[in-house]
Order: sequence, then C-alpha cells, then structure tokens
Amino acid sequence: MKNLSLYNHDLLPTVGLGLWKTPKSDAAKTVHDAIKIGYRHLDSACDYGNEVEVGNGIKLALSKGLCKRDELWVTSKLWNTYHKKEHVRPALERTLKDLQIDRIDLYLIHFPIAQEFVPFDVRYPPEWLYETSGEDPKIKFANVSIQETWGAMEQLVRDGLVRNIGICNFGTSMLRDLLTYAEIHPSVLQVERHPYLAQPKLLKFCQSNDITLTGFSPLGAGSYLELGMAKPEDSVLDETLISEIAGSHGKTPAQIVLRWGIQQGTSVIPKSTRQERLRENLEVFDFVLSDIEMASMNKLDRNHRFNDPGVFAEKAFNTFCPIYE
Ligand SMILES: NC(=O)c1ccc[n+]([C@@H]2O[C@H](COP(=O)([O-])OP(=O)(O)OC[C@H]3O[C@@H](n4cnc5c(N)ncnc54)[C@H](OP(=O)(O)O)[C@@H]3O)[C@@H](O)[C@H]2O)c1
Repeated sequence: MKNLSLYNHDLLPTVGLGLWKTPKSDAAKTVHDAIKIGYRHLDSACDYGNEVEVGNGIKLALSKGLCKRDELWVTSKLWNTYHKKEHVRPALERTLKDLQIDRIDLYLIHFPIAQEFVPFDVRYPPEWLYETSGEDPKIKFANVSIQETWGAMEQLVRDGLVRNIGICNFGTSMLRDLLTYAEIHPSVLQVERHPYLAQPKLLKFCQSNDITLTGFSPLGAGSYLELGMAKPEDSVLDETLISEIAGSHGKTPAQIVLRWGIQQGTSVIPKSTRQERLRENLEVFDFVLSDIEMASMNKLDRNHRFNDPGVFAEKAFNTFCPIYE
C-alpha cells in the first residue's frame, strides 16, 4: 500500500509531498527534510515558481545519500502557455534544469486550458495573465488541441526524458477522448479530491481504465483559506464525524482524511512546510478504517470544489474559463 502499481508496473509512492505555495525560502529545506523522514514522492510544477529551490533540496538530499535518485519519484507539470507541440520539450527541459535532474518520473498536463505562449525571457513562470500590466489584463487562450499536446508529451517518453505522462483536472469525457488517440497510456489523473469532493464516478472510470488517480488538496479547504477561496466552516477536518473517527484510532483528522483517500486506491499529495505535519501526513499506514467508517465518510460528499477555474479565473483574472461544465 505504500506504493501504487501503475499500468506499466512503475511504482508510485502513495503519499507525496505537495509543493504548491511552498515559499521559495522554505522549499529546499522542506524537500530535504521530507526526504529525510521518508517521503519518496514530490509533486512539483513550473507554475509553483519554486522548482529551482525544490531542485536544491533534491540535490542536497541526494548528495547526503538520504536516498538514491531511483528511489525518488518526481512529478512536474506542463503549464498552460506551453501546449503547442514546439513548446512542450523546451518547457520540460526548463523544469529539468531547474530541478537539476535529467529525467522526471511523471509529467502532467496541468490544466486542459491552452494559453497563448509567453517566452521564458518575458516571464517565468508565466502564470495566468497574458499581459500583467495595462488597463484590462486577461487570460489569452490559444487554439491548441489536447491531442497535439499529448503527442508532444508522448515524444518526451520516447526520448527518455520522462517515464510517465498524465493529465490533471480532466473529467471522464476528456479522458475518454484522450484514450481514443493516446499511443502512450495516461498513467495518472491528478484532480482535487477529499471527502467533500469524492468524485466516485471519476474514480470508478479511472480504475476501470488503468489510470491511477492522485488526489490534490486532499485535506480540503485549508489550502484555499489564504486565497479567499474557502471559508473556515468549509473545513472537512472540523467535521464531528472525522474527529470521532480520529479519536477512536488515536489519529488526527488530517490522517483520517488522507487514509480515506489511500484506502480507495488513490495517492495523496498533502503539502506542508512544518516538520511535525510532514511526519503526521506520512504516518497513515499503521491503521485501517473499517468499512462502516469508510461508508460514513463517503456520505460527507457535497461535490464541493475549491479549485475551479470557472470561478477563480473570472474573479482573479477577469476571464471566464469554465472547464468542468
Ligand atoms: N494539479 C493541480 O491542478 C493542483 C492543484 C492544487 C494542488 N495541487 C498539488 O496538490 C498539493 C496538495 O494540495 P494543496 O496544497 O492545495 O492542499 P493540501 O495539501 O490539502 O493542504 C495544504 C494546507 O493544509 C495545511 N496542512 C498540511 N498538513 C496539515 C495537517 N496535518 N493538519 C492540518 N493542516 C495541514 C497546510 O499548512 P502548512 O503548510 O502550514 O502545514 C496548508 O495550508 C499541492 O501542494 C500541489 O502539489 C495540484
């Protein structure tokens, strides 16, 4: 259970370290410390703006012999501005340079949203807005199909730069379409998933098509409070049911929610910069939730999505950008 076997028998460590919003100033130490206490899966992305520092942490850990490169699973993600086929390889090469490694284990299309290209020397990472100044900055979309992007991702595998490719923030219709033309199978779908957004049909679809599901924001609202995208009362960690189950196992609410995810055959990638929470989030393999506990947690589902471009892009970037509807 500490690893999930992908369709090609590669082993994905079930619990990974999320790196979104990890400040540059903390990233190298957090990565080093996480590897030291046993993390073997890092979830990085160009868009997180900290890949250089993440790379410094990896380099330090490897140089100290805390683990071998082969024992470490590194995921990164292709940003929206690099979807055209000629931009995919340079984007990956920039990520490899920043992470200071010569291949990654998993490269994901970050969003099914193609944005206009922004050269590295204009802005890196490019983020969402095409131009950041001016009277009415907006997201500028580009006409690029997922099929074009996927073809270029496949070439990265053939060229030995990437071991696995996958997607984020896709629903079943987009996955079904991808499967019609994919010559290399998508190893992983990464989507928001916690007890308030259980997505049972999406999970069932992935499991019946040999796509491993990774749940992002596995702790729910916490990540979105600082962004004004969630309210304290949205926290699944404060649910009475979760506290009761936590009490009966001598575990914390966060451990119960993470265990709920991994017991359904998904991987989870909680983010923290705090030593005690890094440990806490990894200590989820020494207890089992009963069928009754799992079933009662499944009933918490409210289909509550915190990370929805159809909502945040309009508010933050003055651009209507729905993807799930
Ligand atoms: N593919 C995508 O589109 C996408 C989107 C979002 C996220 N992700 C990935 O998924 C990762 C995880 O998601 P996330 O960062 O949004 O949310 P998360 O891991 O569910 O939650 C992180 C928040 O919870 C706090 N926290 C961590 N451990 C805790 C614990 N044991 N008890 C209570 N609070 C705890 C953290 O604060 P402290 O740091 O202060 O501990 C932080 O505020 C990201 O870092 C990123 O790698 C991917």
